[in-house]
Amino acid sequence: MNACQERIRPTDLPFLTDFWYVAGWRSEFESVGPHARTIIDQPIVLYRDRKNKLVALADRCAHRWAPLSLGRVEGDTLRCMYHGIRFGPDGACVAIPEQDVIPPKMCVRAYPVIERNKLVWVWMGSPDLADASLVPDLAALDQDGRKISFGSLDYKANYALIADNLLDLSHIGFLHENTAGRPVASGNLARACYLPGGSEAKTIDHGVRVESWVSGPAARNVLLPAAVPDGDLWTRTDFLVPGIFISEDRMYPYGVAERSGFRVPDPNIAALSDAISVQAVTPVSDRKTRYFYSFSPGADDVPASEFEAMWTVVKDTFAEDLKMIEAQQIIIDEHPAHQMAGIAADRGFVLFRKMVSRLAAEQSQTGGIGAI
Ligand code: FES
Ligand SMILES: [Fe+2]
Repeated sequence: MNACQERIRPTDLPFLTDFWYVAGWRSEFESVGPHARTIIDQPIVLYRDRKNKLVALADRCAHRWAPLSLGRVEGDTLRCMYHGIRFGPDGACVAIPEQDVIPPKMCVRAYPVIERNKLVWVWMGSPDLADASLVPDLAALDQDGRKISFGSLDYKANYALIADNLLDLSHIGFLHENTAGRPVASGNLARACYLPGGSEAKTIDHGVRVESWVSGPAARNVLLPAAVPDGDLWTRTDFLVPGIFISEDRMYPYGVAERSGFRVPDPNIAALSDAISVQAVTPVSDRKTRYFYSFSPGADDVPASEFEAMWTVVKDTFAEDLKMIEAQQIIIDEHPAHQMAGIAADRGFVLFRKMVSRLAAEQSQTGGIGAI
């Protein structure tokens, strides 16, 4: 066991560097800034230049390490408001008050940043590897006419526990029995309402996918628009490294599950509704995580009052997750050496944990840039 592994408790996951991380919803960065964020233990400051392009720099002045997020945006540059040194979008120092010579080390790290699909993404690894095509396709967030709401929560927990939660939705019928849970989705009833194939977890490129079919009234919860009739509900959730969750719930007329062989529905069959939720789990530190969530009910004509009621349920549901996971983290930290016992429903997050551990091992071999 190396020194790095010793630091990580059995339930934690290491931070991966060579990935795009969600820094926030674009709406959080409408002003020029500066805006302070911390991602995988690295403090970052974001601001907008004169062309309204977002810039991301290490939030630490190269001079005496004052936070640049307490500085001032001046044109394309950010001025540290301790002794007035200015830095450009590439992190290079452009001016030192009362001094003509700029020392070569007077620079800060610049992070690649992308605004796409209502989110701001920051690349936390080597800038040479920052490939914009690796940002997950979340075009559904930009669909015209879609009713959609956005929120975020701050967790006092390792990001692994939130990943666990999103990769094992068997908790919905219990933890969320009074909010987003389906009323009969408990005990044997949960098993009975899954159609053949059950709830299947498998690895995909850079993530884990869970798919299932549920039929009849058991498929209905309060997040399904009242005007949508009962039928066969197909659910797909993708959880991509480092922590992007994409969920789609499509209600079809009865019989579509069987006609599709209980697999992915035929794309030529129209769905009665198509709800989506995009979420992101961004580690701040080993015991802090920022969680971003969104919800769209999948029927454009949902009355505003019904949508408002659904959004309240969504927020209440995620507050239940937060309460449970933070309490779980406290117990884990009180008993760092204990072993957990597994069940079949854990398969999704077991696959994900293996994937993250493998990527972390590869990263340490290739000398990922890590924290500076
Ligand atoms: S610490 Fe930033 S200018 Fe001195
Ligand atoms: Fe939950």
